Amino acid sequence: MEILNADQAAIEKAARILRDGGLVAMPTETVYGLAANAQNERSVARIFEAKGRPRFNPLIVHIPDVAAAEQLAVFNDTAHQLAESFWPGPLTLVLPRKADCGLSELVTAGLSTVALRVPGHPTAQALLRAAGIPVAAPSANKSGHISPTTSTHVADDLDGRIDMILDSGPCNVGVESTVVTFANDEKNTPVLLRPGGVTPHHIQTATGLQLRRPKNTTNDTAPTSPGQLTSHYAPNARLRLNVSQPEPGEALLAFGPELPPHCGPMINLSARGDLQEAAANLFAALRDLDQHGCSSIAAMKIPKIGLGIAINDRLLRAAAPNISDDQK
Ligand code: TXA
Ligand code: MG
Repeated sequence: MEILNADQAAIEKAARILRDGGLVAMPTETVYGLAANAQNERSVARIFEAKGRPRFNPLIVHIPDVAAAEQLAVFNDTAHQLAESFWPGPLTLVLPRKADCGLSELVTAGLSTVALRVPGHPTAQALLRAAGIPVAAPSANKSGHISPTTSTHVADDLDGRIDMILDSGPCNVGVESTVVTFANDEKNTPVLLRPGGVTPHHIQTATGLQLRRPKNTTNDTAPTSPGQLTSHYAPNARLRLNVSQPEPGEALLAFGPELPPHCGPMINLSARGDLQEAAANLFAALRDLDQHGCSSIAAMKIPKIGLGIAINDRLLRAAAPNISDDQK
């Protein structure tokens, strides 16, 4: 498997691999995605195989712009408004798939809806335009593991299982996109399925729209969005949340300028208490602390505002006891 610096030649090569049915890890502004041709059933099946992902979990389809998105799904007015405000960017919209969209059935796991995202990362944009096909891309990690924010993270999980990694350095948002669906009433109310890189506050400020929370967030067996499965981003170590005093021998996932007394491995997500910086560092920090081999990681409290909502969501999942493998 090649890891190539994402220059023009590498992007063209990656685009060929995608068109030929192969798998490429591509950088996006949120996390690295495991990309395949979303119109090719066998290519999409290879994603599930490489990740060890259950078939019922549908994938996000990536396109370069709104026009390409409109070929695949039916937009309501609210969806248009959100797309205009936040694309390209870390927002995913779940919309009814068009009958003639040509997408693989596997990519939407048999659902009548499709999750669409226009990523803002210049490499992802260039790759999507060069490939000229809609690209399915879940996070490029083994299913149930921590999402990758560097090419090394991808290689650690998927070496030998995929054809190429396009390397553009670390992802700057660091948590996955916000997933929004729409309630089946005439007002097309947006419903938050997964908090992420675009915060509810961003959405309200830009559009005046208030996101509704889905009703069955705790139902693991029939999730509205399978990404709501409780345990999803698991390190090997036990993770304790909202800790003010770490125990002896625990690794510390710190946040902010004031630290409790502690000796042992420590990573501060943001010494100046900046949530954007903390989100960008989150997954790498969890991987790094996990590699120290401590049996437990103590995470300090992180405010549940702005990007802190997505950070707390990922930490809660990482702390949840592991569910059976066939649900990951
Ligand atoms: O930032 C991101 O979104 C990254 C990058 C690579 O774009 N991708 C990502 O994909 O996180 P993935 O597959 O790990 O997460 C996709 C989420 C899951 O929670 C999935 O259940 C939800 O989107 N989803 C996909 N299709 C859906 C659908 N038709 N209805 C409801 N939820 C859907
Ligand atoms: Mg994922």
